[in-house]
Amino acid sequence: MEQSGVGIALTGSGSSTPTVALHNVELSRVVETSDEWIASRTGIRERRLAEPGCSLTKLGVEAAKGAIEMAGIAPMDLDLIILATSTADDLFGSASQIQAQLGAFKAVAFDLTAACSGFVFGMVTAAQFIRTGVYKNVLLIGADVLSRWVDWSDRRTCVLFGDGAGAVVMQANEHDRLLGFELRSDGTQNNCLNLSYQSEPKELLTGVTINQGTFHPITMNGQEVYRFAVKKVPEVIEKALFRAHLSVEDVDWLLLHQANQRILDSVADRLKIPPEKVISNLAKYGNTSAASIPLALDEAVRQGKIQEGDTIVTSGFGAGLTWGAAVFQWG
Ligand code: ACO
Repeated sequence: MEQSGVGIALTGSGSSTPTVALHNVELSRVVETSDEWIASRTGIRERRLAEPGCSLTKLGVEAAKGAIEMAGIAPMDLDLIILATSTADDLFGSASQIQAQLGAFKAVAFDLTAACSGFVFGMVTAAQFIRTGVYKNVLLIGADVLSRWVDWSDRRTCVLFGDGAGAVVMQANEHDRLLGFELRSDGTQNNCLNLSYQSEPKELLTGVTINQGTFHPITMNGQEVYRFAVKKVPEVIEKALFRAHLSVEDVDWLLLHQANQRILDSVADRLKIPPEKVISNLAKYGNTSAASIPLALDEAVRQGKIQEGDTIVTSGFGAGLTWGAAVFQWG
């Protein structure tokens, strides 16, 4: 569908993962679990973990370089860098560090936090700057290092997550290839999934007390998150397809946030999308939060699975709670 104003094209992708892989069998020496339990409940076999010295910024820069190269532009062509992450190296934001390391000195850079929905929220945010004609070349990175914030003694959560980064370049284009989207949030269910700041009162002076503490490891009500995902994700995808004036039959690829194979299967089943159209790489990487969609996208593009012009429906969902979907054509 041609929309008014400037169109958007996704012209490059890149990704990066740490070299250290932890298989379920090895993880069963850390917590009481088994390869069989994890694989049958989630589809995950192994995950990549950022070793000391491997920062979020480093992963983001590597993913960005791949996307910029594929798009055939130079870092100095970038107008905007959005880093979708919940695990910045610096709470003030890590996007500026990535800007500096890329040498993208003309680009304004900022972080965006929406947990596992971060990449889809970032895509829609980037699109607004392009559609209004303000910026032409945008780099969107999804990156997370959740291993920093996982409780490695909690088998209900630590088996799920991994580290990584993915990126895309989005450019102003005559033909619009971002066809439709829908974003949602529901803070009333916030306590299902948290990486929360917890603090203690500290008296500075009589009558002046502040709170100081730190972020505490991830807590999750897995069954609630599961129920939320299998209900809300098909709904938001249908809404995005409706906005794009497309139907499920027009979709070449279903590219979901890689949280759990059972969620992927259930969503595909509800939408009547056949398994061969479902992109899945979570066996290798687990749930990499904001990185999972661009990481899976980049792999599928580089494997030649996703071809130029293919119609992709993507959906991110997770903490907040947040969820959203976007429909786009690749290339
Ligand atoms: N190994 C072995 N046993 C385990 C493990 C484990 N790793 N984890 C839990 N169990 C046990 C439990 O203790 C429980 O035992 P009990 O019956 O004796 O009490 C039993 O297995 C069943 O536990 P459930 O929590 O009911 O297991 P469930 O089938 O719901 O699977 C899972 C858990 C995989 C977490 C599932 O609920 C799920 O995938 N939920 C969605 C989670 C998700 O996708 N979160 C990320 C969202 S994205 C983001 O924003 C970060």
